[in-house]
Amino acid sequence: MMSESTPHSELRIPNSTGLSVDIGGIHMKNPVMTASGTFGYGEEFASLVDLNRLGSIIVKGLSLGPSAGNPPPRTVETSGGMLNAIGLENIGLEAFVQDKLPFLQTLNTPVILNIYGHETAAYGGLAERIQDIEGIAAIEVNISCPNVKAGGIAFGTDPKAAFAVVRAVREKTSLPLIVKLSPNVTDIKTIARSVEEAGGNAVSLINTITGMAVDIYKRKPKLGNITGGLSGPAIKPIALRMVWEVAQTVRVPVIGIGGIANANDALEFMIVGASAVQVGTANFVNPRATMEIINGLSSYLEENDIDQIGQIVGTLQT
Ligand SMILES: Cc1cc2nc3c(=O)[nH]c(=O)nc-3n(C[C@H](O)[C@H](O)[C@H](O)COP(=O)(O)O)c2cc1C
Repeated sequence: MMSESTPHSELRIPNSTGLSVDIGGIHMKNPVMTASGTFGYGEEFASLVDLNRLGSIIVKGLSLGPSAGNPPPRTVETSGGMLNAIGLENIGLEAFVQDKLPFLQTLNTPVILNIYGHETAAYGGLAERIQDIEGIAAIEVNISCPNVKAGGIAFGTDPKAAFAVVRAVREKTSLPLIVKLSPNVTDIKTIARSVEEAGGNAVSLINTITGMAVDIYKRKPKLGNITGGLSGPAIKPIALRMVWEVAQTVRVPVIGIGGIANANDALEFMIVGASAVQVGTANFVNPRATMEIINGLSSYLEENDIDQIGQIVGTLQT
């Protein structure tokens, strides 16, 4: 029996409960997710992290058929981050289902498929196929790739095109939809509002910020694609500002992404309004970053006498 002098911390709800979150219908043990393209198809990290401890696994972006991606070099290190121009290389949905999904289905962790297409109809086709696959918790719709049919305007930079893509996916699936927003816009709030209206159950942000790097001796771009996407700690302040803006604009949950490398980074995003976070580039630097972040969030709850991580979401004092 506990004496009256039992410290409060011993009476609290176990941390595993304190970290649990529900994001637009996806139940997660904790708010720490892996960002698409930085965690392979999960299995690559199996010897490095306990995949069952993750909030969820978001796999590399998938298209219907396989895609070869861009010419090399495809990554460059920069101050406080990296540029990548992978060009959404992937094995295609059917190969994923056959070769990668069986392993993921053995886990006790929600699996989220990140999808992209070059036209609205392709997104709808992917969603229709995914709807019939066992063991998929949700779809993350990446709307940052070029819309060839609409004259090269990226879906994620035009509110009408963003609406159309999300609506096309919504009509084909009842799975929870996370819509991943591009930061390469003047006003991210307008896009966020459009995708919420179209039926998105959550928004995730940010994807990479367009940038470039130059080899001064060859006077050539360091990337085969000339430009690429900047990620890592360098983009964290921009991502935080955008998450803060979007969280005040939409009613659906917001998932924060951008330069998250430790628990303090994750907490900053949650305090400005993110209900969960994704860890990207940090996985390359420290493959155990996600585990350390989960442990750090647990300690923060203990140390600050907070029962449920959701209690800190959007508590920024301004
Ligand atoms: C090498 C690499 C590949 C990526 N591939 C994808 C992808 O396939 N789909 C996607 O939506 N985002 C992709 N991203 C973007 C990340 O998921 C994430 O939004 C971005 O890197 C910012 O987070 P970070 O600073 O924690 O890396 C990729 C990022 C990197 C660095």
